[in-house]
Amino acid sequence: MGERLTIAIDGPAGSGKSTVARRVAAMLDYLYLDSGAMYRAVALKALERKSPLDNDAQLEALARETHIELKAPTREQEAAGLKNRVFLDGREVTEQIRTAEVAQAASRLATIAGVREVLVAEQQRAGYGGGVVMEGRDIGTVVFPSAELKIFLDASQETRAQRRWKEHQEKGDDVTLIEVLQEVRERDKRDRERKVSPLVKAKDAVLVDNTAMGIEETARLIVFLAEERNKGKAEQVGV
Ligand code: CDP
Ligand code: CDP
Repeated sequence: MGERLTIAIDGPAGSGKSTVARRVAAMLDYLYLDSGAMYRAVALKALERKSPLDNDAQLEALARETHIELKAPTREQEAAGLKNRVFLDGREVTEQIRTAEVAQAASRLATIAGVREVLVAEQQRAGYGGGVVMEGRDIGTVVFPSAELKIFLDASQETRAQRRWKEHQEKGDDVTLIEVLQEVRERDKRDRERKVSPLVKAKDAVLVDNTAMGIEETARLIVFLAEERNKGKAEQVGV
């Protein structure tokens, strides 16, 4: 396939962004970047340091002095279902950032403009030059507003909570479906209603509801759309 595009996938919790984005990146041989993992990593650091989650200036300073690295999993880790490896100031926190407590703290921290500024700049650096699938909440609207392909991935709230609950079950976490549904609901509300970079579908994003679709089917649809965009781009430059 010709040009190396920038593909932005945004959507609410549990809509399948990480799984689908990772699959699309593998199919196209692109880089996969999980922007949410960055918010989660800073949130974990804040929780560990017992930084008050209502002190915006302190959290912004914390984000500025934090070094986050995203790495692809080893073959064994991938086989065990691990999506990507996350390092916080050089320490691996891949598992620790996946708790409901960290998710909630991340969504609180994500309302702070200064924190977003730091992480958005980092994401723009990481995805510079294309050949990348980046997923999050504001990739198509703020991080890469000129991405060639933007997807808004959605699924019903019940389905999304079910998917998350299943993951917790598999890890042996003691949490009920109702608790997960509540967590997803609260986070969705905060993410959609915040003043800075709320979760919203970019005007030029394709809405994909995958409530009744599998991972492979969803990934193939996105790859098909990427191929179409690529053809369009080639025609424009007369290739
Ligand atoms: O990243 P995001 O929160 O949007 O969702 P995810 O972590 O990629 O997906 C949540 C769970 O739903 C994972 O266990 C996926 O395997 C599963 N999933 C699914 O069963 N069917 C889909 N079409 C998409 C995701
Ligand atoms: O995997 P899931 O969809 O549950 O969450 P995530 O993508 O890991 O993101 C965790 C939290 O970080 C979200 O609830 C958002 O508040 C925030 N986030 C954001 O504000 N902007 C992004 N680009 C990515 C995540």
